[in-house]
Amino acid sequence: MTRPIVIAIDGPAASGKGTLARRLAAAFNLPYLDTGLLYRAVARRVLDRGGDPADPAASEEQARSLSRLDLERGDLRTPEVDRAASAVASIKPVRAALLDFQRRFADASGAVLDGRDIGTIVFPEADVKLFVTASLDVRAKRRHLERLAHGIDPGLDSVRAELAARDEADRTRAAAPLVQAKDALLLDTSHMDANHAFTAAADLVNKVLARG
Ligand code: CDP
Repeated sequence: MTRPIVIAIDGPAASGKGTLARRLAAAFNLPYLDTGLLYRAVARRVLDRGGDPADPAASEEQARSLSRLDLERGDLRTPEVDRAASAVASIKPVRAALLDFQRRFADASGAVLDGRDIGTIVFPEADVKLFVTASLDVRAKRRHLERLAHGIDPGLDSVRAELAARDEADRTRAAAPLVQAKDALLLDTSHMDANHAFTAAADLVNKVLARG
């Protein structure tokens, strides 16, 4: 039996990695895990209980109690949860509690996973690693459009400032900071639409897999 394939996709907030990862998973017939949802769901649980997402004990407790149902909630992508997710994600025991779930997810059939530390920490031996970026302005425009589609208009400047602050926090934290793995291929989607980004990424994946 051939070993299941793992594709790791990392990058800053709103870089388009989720859309790309979902499409790659469909194209390569692999299960898909949006690992950001795990941190968002932990944050949501802490907020629901009136806790502080920066409190290590409260956040670890909720990370350990997380269930699959928590990941299906419809309120995980609000600006409040964006900030709270980044706060819980900087807590080491929270990350440790979520590590096994992410690794086991790919056990049976391989997977495409997207996040911040997939190629560096979760699957350092992944078959293919992509680091997906786009300029801050482009990412802010994309996220702003998503917010508008959900009927919220926080203003483009506020979206840009929130993204920049979250990226800074994710890049500079001690626990599993956002960084391009040495062997990850860079895909800058600043000048690509979703279709173009998918074609470029699928080409890269095919090239790496063909090399064996
Ligand atoms: O969708 P977006 O790019 O805005 O964020 P996300 O991927 O849902 O991740 C939300 C937050 O979770 C990030 O800002 C990170 O702080 C954290 N995260 C992480 O630390 N490690 C991961 N593998 C995935 C997300």
